[in-house]
Amino acid sequence: MQIKRHSILVVGSGLAGMRAAVAARENGADVAVISICQPVRSHSVAAQGGINAPLGNNPESKDDSVEKHAFDTVKGSDYLADQPAVLKMIGMAKETVYELEHWGCPFSRFEDGSIGQRPFGGAGYPRTCFAADRTGHSVLHVAWERSVKLGVPVYEDRLVIRLAVKDKKVQGVIVYNFRTGYLEMWECDAVIFATGGAGQIYGATSNALSCNAFGMAIAYWAGIALKDMEFIQFHPTTLYGNNVLISEAARGEGGYLRNNKGERFMEKYAPEKMELAPRDIVSRSIYQEVLEGRGYGTKENGYIHLDLTHLPEEQILERLPQIRELALIFTGQDMIKDPIPVQPGFHYMMGGIHVDENCSSKEVEGFFACGECSCVSVHGANRLGGNSLLECAVMGKIAGSQAAEYVKGVTSSSEAKNILFLELQKQEAKLDHLFSGKGKDDPFSIMEEMRATMMTKVFVYREEGALSEALNKIRELKKRFKEGAYLKSKVREYNRELEWVLAIEGMLDVAEVMCLGALKRTECRGCHWRLDHLGRDDENFLKHTLVNYIEGEAKLSYLDAIITKWQPKERKY
Ligand code: FUM
Repeated sequence: MQIKRHSILVVGSGLAGMRAAVAARENGADVAVISICQPVRSHSVAAQGGINAPLGNNPESKDDSVEKHAFDTVKGSDYLADQPAVLKMIGMAKETVYELEHWGCPFSRFEDGSIGQRPFGGAGYPRTCFAADRTGHSVLHVAWERSVKLGVPVYEDRLVIRLAVKDKKVQGVIVYNFRTGYLEMWECDAVIFATGGAGQIYGATSNALSCNAFGMAIAYWAGIALKDMEFIQFHPTTLYGNNVLISEAARGEGGYLRNNKGERFMEKYAPEKMELAPRDIVSRSIYQEVLEGRGYGTKENGYIHLDLTHLPEEQILERLPQIRELALIFTGQDMIKDPIPVQPGFHYMMGGIHVDENCSSKEVEGFFACGECSCVSVHGANRLGGNSLLECAVMGKIAGSQAAEYVKGVTSSSEAKNILFLELQKQEAKLDHLFSGKGKDDPFSIMEEMRATMMTKVFVYREEGALSEALNKIRELKKRFKEGAYLKSKVREYNRELEWVLAIEGMLDVAEVMCLGALKRTECRGCHWRLDHLGRDDENFLKHTLVNYIEGEAKLSYLDAIITKWQPKERKY
């Protein structure tokens, strides 16, 4: 069987992946992208509100600076972010936004022609640059166009299912080709994972179906730790009913959150920042209102109102056209005239594949990761809105140029082909077993049980009893999957059921890591709120959680957070 080869393989075609591919190409590397979809259908396209940079264009943000943006990010992270990594990312924010502008990103503008900047949660100044409420769509398009201009090949309709590693060094990847239905071997000197987030583990999520944590699981199985996986961001305003994102930009533009008494309840929880407190605080406040009977719907599935009816119609039409349309389509309500129903939903994974500030793994040589699948530790325990597109663009660039530099010094291994062939055989055997349909447990029922467990026991508020139950349940589901998972559909080509079943195995392992990290972190920090351990515990937990996959089991350890400039303080808004 033929082996395909590129010096660098980028896995995933969202903003981080495309930016990495462009950087690797610009640095002279032979790079290609492998993706399940056409790049502009990747999930970055769904990012709405904006990308942060201290440009100082807004009349109210003239005093903004790298240092102030970095401080807001560190405080927002509840002091868990690694400060040198934050300073590095924010230090590159201005040039990154201008680069996207020069590539043709149609940013919204101030009267003077400068890039528009709006207020966002947890930020001391309005610094979120935006293209109406379709910022992700716009930046992803220009990054992809740039890759086309540079002639970067993109191999679509392909799912990476395993990493081939020998002596802690990357050799290549095993790929399921949707078009042929068969497995392929791809050799490389370095791989960059940019495979996105993990929202499908919960189901009630603003994430696309492709955000199934599979890339995280593949790295984990290959010997790389998952870091800080207990830190899951619930976006305060996802649409009640389907959890489609209703951008923070709605509050940045002046929207209010109201309970069933019509009160702007954020007054009680974050009197200074109100609706523009960081997301962990706003989500908890909404949940609290619902629990105390001041929401709508049920306590288990409640919601509150996002009210924009006081804003001028032209402002909504010009700056928030997409979310108005989404709410109109899915609820029938027009936010120009009526408040719309919103609730917290899984939005973002602060944790991810453990890499350093060069996006490089110290555990497996030749492995890089960027974007949401990775954890460089720039968001700590809570990410600020608008810092995710920034991370994708900045860290994508760093990952691509670092990988290009790395491969210059690598001689390709003569063993790679054999190693890939052995891995391929293992994966073929696994697929044969699934296709033989001998199991008895429907993997989709297992997935639904996993989601129900995570939603009820590892949500905004957490405590030991529920977390232990969740961990045990996930372990039981893993066992059932191993003993009984099967495929109903026997076709080889475009077998989406196969894609899901492979991903479910990964989701279960990643869910176990989330539960374990959450159970062992006996403090409150950022989005991780332990009702049985109130208060932040810097003495014991100013640390990152690491979980490694060792002989089939999840093993936990800790790594000190890097504090250089700002000592932890009480976090008030
Ligand atoms: O609310 C939003 O527009 C989301 C932005 C983000 O997650 O950074």
